[in-house]
Amino acid sequence: MADKIDVKYLKSIRGNATTEIKGPYEPGALLDHPKTITRRCLFWGAWLSFWGLVGMWSFSVVRYLIPRVSYEPSSIFKAGKPEDYPLGSVTFIETRKVWIIREEKGVYALIAVCTHLSCQPRWFEEEQIFKCPCHGGQFYKNGVNFAGPPPKPLARAYVEVSDDGRLLVDKERIVGLDFILPV
Ligand code: FES
Repeated sequence: MADKIDVKYLKSIRGNATTEIKGPYEPGALLDHPKTITRRCLFWGAWLSFWGLVGMWSFSVVRYLIPRVSYEPSSIFKAGKPEDYPLGSVTFIETRKVWIIREEKGVYALIAVCTHLSCQPRWFEEEQIFKCPCHGGQFYKNGVNFAGPPPKPLARAYVEVSDDGRLLVDKERIVGLDFILPV
């Protein structure tokens, strides 16, 4: 017959066990006894839970702060029919910050952002040039820079005629200085 093990003995050898030990136990009971939860385990569990919650909360805040909907106007827009623009005209579309320029060869679109420090240049009809109010940059009608600090010409946006016969401008698609849409 197996010897009985004293509860006091079990408690003394299990040290920091947190589960209550009830006796008497048969020899070998220690090996079969389910794993107990130590204070160390509890501490790490709480610590990891805490940081998990902090991580989830931070993620929620960041998602809340970064809008998932863009309220910027689309970079692609329709700009009326080619015949809306008289020959030789420079028409500013204020809401899109784009000039539509009509010449004999066709139509092109210049983006109204100075290539120096992004101010908005203005068109001077009498002089037939664009001037930037910030640092005196100047551009020819075709967008080429010729005075002041701007390092390069005004950006020219892609234009095409859409199915309904209206001009379709894409500000994201920058084209070369020689791009003119024949109309
Ligand atoms: S921002 Fe236009 S010249 Fe400086």
